[in-house]
Amino acid sequence: MGPMARVEELWVDRGLPRAVDVILADRIVGGWRSAAVGAAEGRVLEFGFGSGANLRFYGESVKEVLAVDPSDLAWRAAQPGIARFGRPVTRIGDDAALIDLPDESVDTVVATWTLCSIADVEDALAEARRVLRPGGSFRLVEHSLSPRPSVQRFQRRVQPVWGRVSGGCHIDRDMSGLLASAGFDTGALTARDAFQFLPAKPWSYFVAGGATPC
Ligand SMILES: C[S@@+](CC[C@H](N)C(=O)[O-])C[C@H]1O[C@@H](n2cnc3c(N)ncnc32)[C@H](O)[C@@H]1O
Repeated sequence: MGPMARVEELWVDRGLPRAVDVILADRIVGGWRSAAVGAAEGRVLEFGFGSGANLRFYGESVKEVLAVDPSDLAWRAAQPGIARFGRPVTRIGDDAALIDLPDESVDTVVATWTLCSIADVEDALAEARRVLRPGGSFRLVEHSLSPRPSVQRFQRRVQPVWGRVSGGCHIDRDMSGLLASAGFDTGALTARDAFQFLPAKPWSYFVAGGATPC
């Protein structure tokens, strides 16, 4: 492996999980987290569990969390929060595209700023649809392809470089469209620029709320 590839690997494995916790700190996006995951209930399957930043936003009606994430570093960092949470949290896999659970076996699927990073996002959404019980809900907040043509052009142009430095994050995915194609009713989702700061716009057109199986 060449030195640049090694630096890239170190950054993605060790630097990036820590950077995510800084960028997605509660003082910046806590309101979005709360609105997205506060309505989760029962048995929750969480894609991209990371270091467990959503645990403190789950209400009492969440009985159990099944975590899926490839990062061992983030899972270790999550342990103090899991202990404080006081309800069962089990890491059941490392790829949301392949979930080892029966059909219709969870009440809520949660994903926060994660669908952008899943390589096989269509497969992951098909898994979410498969394991959700009828009447269950997919609670999410994700950054998405902007509806503004100028921002879209920038997102598509910068994606090849951004994908490499961000461990495979995509800023050019139409999240509502992907959810609809996977069999979710997206009518109750909201979508808007989270920040008016112009340089942030390619990363902060957020799609949030609850999508239900249809
Ligand atoms: C930007 S971080 C968000 C972490 C956390 N959800 C949060 O809100 O702070 C994206 C997460 O997705 C995880 N991830 C990447 N590929 C994944 C996959 N195929 N299946 C599940 N999680 C994945 C990463 O390891 C990382 O923890």
